[in-house]
Amino acid sequence: MTTPARISDARFKTLPRHVAMIMDGNGRWANDRGLPRFAGHKQGAKTVDLVTTECARLGLEALTLYSFSSENWKRPAEEVEVLMALYHEYLVDQRDRMVENGIRFRRLGRRDGLPEEVLRESDACEAATRDCRGMTLCLALNYGSRAEIVDATRDLAIAVRDGKIEPEAIDEAALAAHLGTRDLPDPDLLIRTAGEMRISNFLLWQISYAELVVTDVLWPDFDLEALHAALRTFEGRTRRFGRVDPPPTATDD
Ligand code: IPE
Ligand code: IPE
Ligand code: MG
Repeated sequence: MTTPARISDARFKTLPRHVAMIMDGNGRWANDRGLPRFAGHKQGAKTVDLVTTECARLGLEALTLYSFSSENWKRPAEEVEVLMALYHEYLVDQRDRMVENGIRFRRLGRRDGLPEEVLRESDACEAATRDCRGMTLCLALNYGSRAEIVDATRDLAIAVRDGKIEPEAIDEAALAAHLGTRDLPDPDLLIRTAGEMRISNFLLWQISYAELVVTDVLWPDFDLEALHAALRTFEGRTRRFGRVDPPPTATDD
């Protein structure tokens, strides 16, 4: 069971349209307390609830959470089992709540390898929330960015082979349209918790111009204050996209 998430009344001048998060540090959180790693994952699920509720309240268009990478299969079987059970529980618990809150759910990543019951519940969440018009919540589960790009490339190759598109029609938009994140804006902010300065095969295509915020806070400790701090950091960034800074205007603070 998940606890009801707290809400806040924080306001921002500029918000990202799409936030992506590498939720790291569950194991360290548990280790620090002399607890087994699964205790960190359980606590981390509460953070998912808190962060999702707040991002929806703030009016973000999309939130993408890295929940299980294609590399995470290398973990001990018992840990993988606990994680899969938690995803299942989460999907069962959250379906009605997502509908109530207008959240559109989407799973990113390959189906192959995921337990049947996780796929069933994830499909059910997608179906139940298909017409929701609020925030899109993407759960990256068995997700690897290189695999996603390979799959998109293969889809395009098949379309060319079958005469559906011309090779010349393959451009950035065509490739993006074959990724799991199709029809969503690219993340403008990527937050990684627990301090590691790496991307770990997450959204390599989509984050090409994202602002990066790495916090030392471990995912189970990532609270509203930490989320707002990351959003304030984003607010203070100058995004140039290759251009030069615009000259200051009279209306600038
Ligand atoms: C993130 O926390 C959760 C998953 C990758 C599923 P970790 O389990 O990686 O925590 P650390 O990095 O060992 O602290
Ligand atoms: C990244 O965390 C994957 C998820 C958060 C699901 P990891 O803990 O697996 O990353 P590495 O192995 O330290 O790069
Ligand atoms: Mg980790």
